[in-house]
Order: sequence, then C-alpha cells, then structure tokens
Amino acid sequence: MAQIFKPAMNTVCTVSIFVGAVVPFAILFTGSRITRGPLNTKVENPLDQPAPFSHKHHAYELGLDCRFCHTGVEDNAQAGLPATEVCMTCHSQIWTNSPNLEAIRKSWESNTPIQWNKVNTVPDFVYFNHSIHVARGIVCNNCHGPVNKMPMTWKGEDFRMMWCLECHKDPSKYLYKDDAHPELTPKQQVFNFYKKLAAGDPLTPEEQELADGLPQLVPPDKTHEGVALMKERGINVKQLKDCYICHH
Ligand code: HEC
Ligand code: HEC
Ligand code: HEC
Ligand code: HEC
Ligand code: HEC
Repeated sequence: MAQIFKPAMNTVCTVSIFVGAVVPFAILFTGSRITRGPLNTKVENPLDQPAPFSHKHHAYELGLDCRFCHTGVEDNAQAGLPATEVCMTCHSQIWTNSPNLEAIRKSWESNTPIQWNKVNTVPDFVYFNHSIHVARGIVCNNCHGPVNKMPMTWKGEDFRMMWCLECHKDPSKYLYKDDAHPELTPKQQVFNFYKKLAAGDPLTPEEQELADGLPQLVPPDKTHEGVALMKERGINVKQLKDCYICHH
C-alpha cells in the first residue's frame, strides 16, 4: 500500500506545529516588550506639555507643598491636577510676559481648562488609590521618581503589575520614617520630606537615595525596623497580594 504521507511530511508537520505554536507567543512576547519598553512607557522621557512646568523650580526651589496643586492626594484615590487659577495666583503678577506662560494666560482669559498630557496611568481595570499609600508613609518619589529634580515631568516607574506586587509582598522595605520628627504622623512625614529637601536640611543616606529617585529605602540591616513599622501602621500584608485588591 502506498504511503499516504511521505516521510518528508513529518518535517512539514513539525515545522507547522512549531510555527503555529511558537510564533504567536513570540509575537505576543515582542509585542509586550514593545508596549512596555522605555520609549512607550515614557520612563524618564518627559512628555510635551502646554507650558513647560518645572517641579524642580516650584516644588523644590520655591518649596511649594505637593498638596497646594495636587489637592486630592491625601484624601482621594486621584491626586488631581491644578486648575489655571492656582497658577494665576502668582503668574497674574510675576513673569506676566513670559512666552512660556502663554498657554496659561490663554486658558485664563478664555476660561477653558488647560489640557495637561497625562504622564502616569494604569489601565481602567486596575484600581489604585493615593490616599492609603500616603497615609501609610510611602513617599511620592518611591512611585514617581525624583519629582523634586524634574524640570519637566517624566514617568518614574512603569507601573507594571510585578512592580506593584514587589512592594505589596513586603512593604516593610519602603515605609518612610523620619527619626528627626517622631511627633509627625506617617502622612505628615511624607510631605515634610519635601520641606526638608527645600530647606537643605541634612539627610540620611536613605533619604538622599529617595531624593535621587532610588526606590529601596530601608537598608537590609534595618529590616526589623520596617517590620515594626508595619505593625505600628496597621498594615495587613496578607491581603495585599489578593487579586481583588487591585482588580474589582
Ligand atoms: C505649583 C503647582 C504644583 C506643585 C506645587 C506640585 N505639582 Fe506636580 N504637577 C503640577 C502640574 C501643572 C502638573 C502637570 C504637568 C506636568 O506633568 O508636569 C503636575 C504633574 C505631576 C505629576 C505627573 C502627573 C501625571 O500626569 O501623571 C506628578 C507625579 C506630580 N506632579 C507630583 C508632584 C509632587 C510629588 C509634588 C510635591 C513634591 C508636586 N507634584 C508639586 C503642578 C504642581
Ligand atoms: C507661589 C507662586 C507660584 C505659583 C503658584 C506658580 N508659579 Fe510658576 N513660577 C513662579 C516663580 C517665582 C517663577 C520664577 C521664575 C524664575 O525665577 O526663573 C515661576 C516660573 C514659571 C515658569 C517659567 C517662566 C519662564 O519664562 O522662565 C513657568 C512655565 C511656570 N512658572 C508655570 C507655572 C504653572 C503652569 C503653574 C500652575 C500649575 C505655576 N507656574 C504656579 C511662581 C509660581
Ligand atoms: C504607591 C505608588 C504611588 C505613590 C506613593 C504616589 N503615587 Fe501618584 N500615581 C501613582 C499611580 C499608579 C498613578 C496613575 C493612576 C491612574 O492612572 O489612575 C499616579 C498618578 C498621579 C498623578 C496624576 C493625576 C492623578 O491623580 O491620576 C499625580 C498628580 C500624582 N500621582 C501625584 C502624586 C503625589 C503628589 C504623591 C505624593 C504625595 C503621589 N502621587 C504618590 C502611584 C503613586
Ligand atoms: C512602595 C510600596 C507600594 C507600591 C509600589 C504599591 N503599593 Fe499599593 N499599597 C501599599 C501599602 C503599604 C498599602 C496599605 C495596606 C494596608 O494599610 O493594609 C497599599 C494598599 C493598596 C490598595 C488598597 C487600597 C484600599 O482602599 O484598601 C490598593 C488598591 C493598592 N495598594 C494598589 C496598588 C497598585 C495598583 C499599585 C501599582 C500601580 C500599588 N498599589 C503599588 C504599598 C505599595
Ligand atoms: C498590587 C496590585 C495588583 C494585584 C494585587 C494584582 N494585579 Fe493584576 N495588574 C495590576 C496592574 C497595575 C496591571 C496593569 C499593568 C500590567 O499589565 O502589568 C495588572 C494587569 C493584570 C492583567 C492583564 C494582563 C497583563 O499582564 O497585562 C491580568 C490578567 C491580571 N493583572 C491578573 C491578576 C491576577 C490573577 C491577580 C491575583 C493573583 C492580580 N492580577 C493581582 C496590579 C495588580
């Protein structure tokens, strides 16, 4: 009886199984590499903005509190962006002719909100909440990079799921505590950190790293302190990895 399939067909089959099974994964993999590469996630790449707003200047050199402009950050899920009025409290009087403030003046005169380009986002199916992180004493720079040094705002972290989980598995490493100001609540310490930077107060090596945008705060030899802070601040680490916390 004649062979229906020639031996060579085996190779063809193997190849097509290979192509059918592996190539889609390869494409998915490359796809996700492209969508998550630094270019697309804009890590350390500032976006164009209607006006070249500088955090380095306003938050660090002038020492304006984050909450002055991001009013939601301590009580709400969203930090929020400032309305044009907030800029005009100063810029109706100073730097009134600067071409860099043209878009702000236009927005003010025409009574239309200014459209800032959003630097940081998580997808719609992810729930995120600022207030709880700030209340537990996690400094903005841990998630946003060295905001105090940014002439134009860039994305400090890529906000992949693994990055969130890395801290949720063991937040003890990232809780900020200022030994010089034990009278302040963890949240007050977060904002006071930027006051210290603006005032040029002496910093611990860990604080210096945080100011430079390096996320690991508590050094390994102080792990026990972090663990004690978790208890003190009532952090329930058991549920922090549960899917429903971030996807509900
Ligand atoms: C004078 C007002 C002002 C102050 C003070 C201020 N910001 Fe901002 N911030 C802005 C404006 C305007 C934008 C939008 C333009 C941009 O992205 O640069 C912004 C954007 C941001 C973003 C990116 C938002 C996005 O699009 O995802 C982060 C993160 C941020 N600010 C953090 C901080 C932190 C941390 C502090 C305090 C250390 C602070 N800001 C203080 C005005 C301010
Ligand atoms: C508390 C006062 C204050 C507030 C509020 C404020 N600024 Fe400023 N801004 C300043 C000062 C002071 C300068 C100083 C310029 C310098 O010394 O270089 C400045 C400079 C600037 C410049 C650079 C101007 C140039 O031509 O170099 C831009 C752009 C700017 N601010 C945007 C904003 C925006 C946008 C907001 C609102 C989100 C804002 N500012 C809110 C005080 C303020
Ligand atoms: C635990 C990480 C984390 C910390 C700490 C954190 N942020 Fe954010 N921030 C995010 C994420 C994630 C987003 C994107 C949220 C989204 O897409 O809904 C974001 C978005 C923002 C935005 C854009 C506007 C908005 O509300 O979505 C601003 C402004 C901002 N953060 C400011 C701050 C400031 C100021 C602090 C410190 C007081 C801070 N953040 C602390 C993770 C963090
Ligand atoms: C540097 C550490 C750290 C990072 C990074 C971090 N978190 Fe958290 N997260 C915490 C801590 C601490 C808590 C508070 C847990 C508690 O008090 O029991 C928390 C709580 C939460 C909660 C619970 C809020 C509630 O209302 O119960 C959500 C949701 C959450 N985080 C989402 C995220 C997402 C999404 C990301 C990534 C974009 C993220 N977190 C990144 C430390 C972190
Ligand atoms: C601390 C917050 C957090 C927790 C807990 C969490 N996720 Fe996510 N998840 C995210 C973020 C942020 C993204 C979006 C960024 C990304 O795609 O990596 C995401 C994306 C996803 C996606 C989209 C696919 C992808 O990788 O892009 C799936 C599916 C998912 N999560 C499933 C889960 C499951 C299942 C669990 C429980 C085992 C879980 N997540 C727990 C934060 C979280």
